[in-house]
Formats: sequence, C-alpha cells, structure tokens
Amino acid sequence: MNAQGVSRIAIIGAGNMGHQITALCAMNGLRTTCTDISGEILKKAEDFFRSYIEGRVVKGKLSTEEGARAVASARFVEDMGEAVADADYVIEAAVEALEVKRNIFAELDRITPPHAILATNSSRIVSSRIADATKRPAQVCNLHFFNPALVMKLVEVVRGPHCSEETVATSFDLCQRLGKIPVLLEKEVDGFLLNRMLGALLREALWLHDMGIATFEDIDKACVHGAGYPMGPFRLMDLTGIDLEYLIRMEAFQNSGDRAELPSPGVIERFLKGDYGQKTGRGWYDYAKAVK
Ligand code: 3HC
Repeated sequence: MNAQGVSRIAIIGAGNMGHQITALCAMNGLRTTCTDISGEILKKAEDFFRSYIEGRVVKGKLSTEEGARAVASARFVEDMGEAVADADYVIEAAVEALEVKRNIFAELDRITPPHAILATNSSRIVSSRIADATKRPAQVCNLHFFNPALVMKLVEVVRGPHCSEETVATSFDLCQRLGKIPVLLEKEVDGFLLNRMLGALLREALWLHDMGIATFEDIDKACVHGAGYPMGPFRLMDLTGIDLEYLIRMEAFQNSGDRAELPSPGVIERFLKGDYGQKTGRGWYDYAKAVK
C-alpha cells in the first residue's frame, strides 16, 4: 500500500497530541476516527475539534465547505474495535508507557485489517520495542509529531530494523499529504532527533534554575530574546506537559540506573502537585484564567 491507498485513519488517544493529529487528518481529507479509554477526554477532543474548525472558517483559513467536509470526516468513538475496524493506517498517541503501548499494539494487531500500518507517536520509545507485540512487525514504525501538532510542520519518521520499505515510504508520503515536513531517521535512537537536541537545552536550563543562577522566567527570556526561540524551555515544558517530562526522566533512570537521569527537583515538585502545565492550568507558569 502507498500513501494514496490510505483513506481511513484511526488515532488512538485523544490527549495532548491525539486530538490535534485527529483534526489535522480530518482537515486533510482522511476519514478519521479518534478513540480514547476516557470518555471525558474524547468529549473534550470532539469539542475542541468542532470549535477549532469553526474558528478556522471564521478566520478565513477554511471555506465553509472545507469546514463542513472536515467535520463530516471525523468520528469520535469510545470503542477501539469500532474505531479501527476499517483503518488503513493507525497512529497510536496514548500515554508514554511501554507496557501500555505493547498491549495496545497487540490488540490492534488482532482487530485492524491485515494491510493496516500501525505507527506510534511516542516521543522516545523506538518501535522495535513494540513491534514484536504484533505479528506484523514490518508494518510498525515511529511517526513522531510535535506539539502543537496542528502547527508544527516537522514529523520524524523512524526506520526500525523490522520496518519494510513500503511502511517507511507510505508513512513519509502520508506526512506530506498532511502538509507536514517529514524527516527520515535511518536508524533508531532513543529520543529521536529533535527531542535529543531540545533535551540538551532543557537539561542545561533546569541545572541553571536548580543552582539558583537565574529564575525560570529569565532563562526563558534569554532563549526568546537572545536566540530567537519562539518560547523558552520552561514555557515549552508547560506546553508539552511536565508529566511527560517526569515520565520520560523516570523511564531513562529505570533503564540506565544513572541518578543524573532523575527528574529535576522543580519538575518533581510540580508533578506531585498535579501541576502539569497548560493542560491543568498551572505548571511553571499560571494559566488558570485561560483554562475553561
Ligand atoms: N493549537 C493549535 N493551533 C495553535 C496553538 C495550539 N495550541 N497555538 C497556536 N496555534 C496556532 C494559531 O491558531 C495560529 O494559527 P494561524 O496563524 O493559522 O491562525 C498560529 O498557531 C500562531 O498562533 P499565535 O500567534 O497565537 O501564537 P504564537 O505565534 O506565539 O505561536 C506556537 C504559538 C506555535 C506554539 C509557538 O510559540 C511555537 O512554535 N512554540 C514552540 C513549539 C515547539 O517547540 N514545539 C515542539 C515541542 S517538542 C515536542 O513536541 C516533542 C513531543 O515529543 C512532545
């Protein structure tokens, strides 16, 4: 199957990334189904989708007909079996936990059509750690979007040792159909390309903060006003989720046993309070007024 053969897509997980990937696919002419184990998160994603499309039409970014077509292309369903029954391509955007992803992929393998490609949007788990949970490892790959997925052009496509050429080529072409700029990683590497580079910046920023060298606000200002970043690393962490940063660091620590991998004290403090960033209304910054 090539990308033109992909007409139905299913998104597993309607959270931070999944709800935007869903909107992106529906706006680009794919019959899109989104599912989540939480009815509440799914409802939030559907509400976002409808108001986003409305906003695009009001802003003149979509015609009324294009908006109506996008709305007609998307379905939000609680039952994963129903969501993926006729999918040509599945993008898993569930929680960043290996066992959860392996279980989802094992189930997807049983319930999706045999030709379907199964991609994970994981931020750092390489697909070779998941592919053997299925009987179709050649059709499993990483397809890594960036937050906010409706805006950021980059998508990383990762060639795992098990991936077929067709899976890589179809995934790459699909990104282009979605208006994205895909880059190809020829080999798997923990954290892929951009998160490795952003991670280096973030580690340094957290060290400067934890050592009391500067406030997080001033570190952000330095990046924005001295280096032209759209936002500093602390505001970015609020966007991508402090919970995600915590989970990624804990997994890295569990894998390596290296205490230097543990989350920084400022991250632990906020994680334990449930202050995950924009999605909870407070992280490094306070968003309470903006959250409905
Ligand atoms: N969702 C959807 N669209 C959004 C959005 C959001 N959360 N935030 C902004 N936008 C859209 C607006 O609608 C607007 O679109 P339009 O021009 O077509 O109408 C456009 O983005 C610009 O919006 P604003 O003027 O309000 O905002 P900014 O110019 O400040 O841009 C930003 C906001 C795009 C988020 C910008 O600050 C930025 O690029 N930040 C850096 C983001 C980044 O680095 N992302 C990568 C994170 S790492 C990651 O994702 C790793 C993964 O593994 C988790």
